[in-house]
Amino acid sequence: MIRGLLFDLDGVLVDTAKYHFLAWQRMASALGIPFGHKENEQLKGVSRRESLERILAWGKLTLPEPEMQHWMDLKNQWYLEYVEHMDPQEVLPGVRSFLADARAQGYLIGLGSASKNAIPLLKKVDLFSYFDAIVDGHVVTESKPHPAVFLEGAKLLALLPEQCVVFEDAVAGVEAAKRGGMRCIGMGRQEELPLADKVISGFENQTVSGLLAGLSLL
Ligand code: BG6
Ligand code: MG
Repeated sequence: MIRGLLFDLDGVLVDTAKYHFLAWQRMASALGIPFGHKENEQLKGVSRRESLERILAWGKLTLPEPEMQHWMDLKNQWYLEYVEHMDPQEVLPGVRSFLADARAQGYLIGLGSASKNAIPLLKKVDLFSYFDAIVDGHVVTESKPHPAVFLEGAKLLALLPEQCVVFEDAVAGVEAAKRGGMRCIGMGRQEELPLADKVISGFENQTVSGLLAGLSLL
């Protein structure tokens, strides 16, 4: 029986995926490396360091550690400038009522994000109080599709993987959930997330019981 829901953050609860994209694109452009939406799709759910390593590899560049650190810091500074204006209005449509419904139904709620900015961002948009457990980029360093972020989330909720459903917008994130032995609801388009058990476009007009019934999990 499903008892816990694990949510990715960027692109699932808040529309921050576009700001990660803009910041990486700005950095790639400064380094003379072409970077578009196709490349960006491969970075969703991937840690800051691994994202930088992938971009440099695409540009056939290697940098010494102090320069790697410099670009990671600068990318994060740009990202923080982009999200600075965000407020509770910018939680994605339907998210707040879905989380409230989940809590009212007694489900445990966890976050499974690669981001080191997850906690301040959740506080900024006033979602922090919905969460029983938070696993972020400070807790787990393995990038999705490694399942560690979700396995740790299930553990913190004191649940088994098969008692959890993951909500993910990234190909790597869906794979992480499946590798962890969890059901996964993809957020986005079916053709982009073929490994998900079900794909929805967003949380508007969705309820936990409706979704779980559709997966024969009630
Ligand atoms: C993930 C995003 O949630 O967090 C990635 O999908 C991002 O795009 C990663 O690179 C790390 O985020 P941060 O905030 O620690 O740089
Ligand atoms: Mg995401």
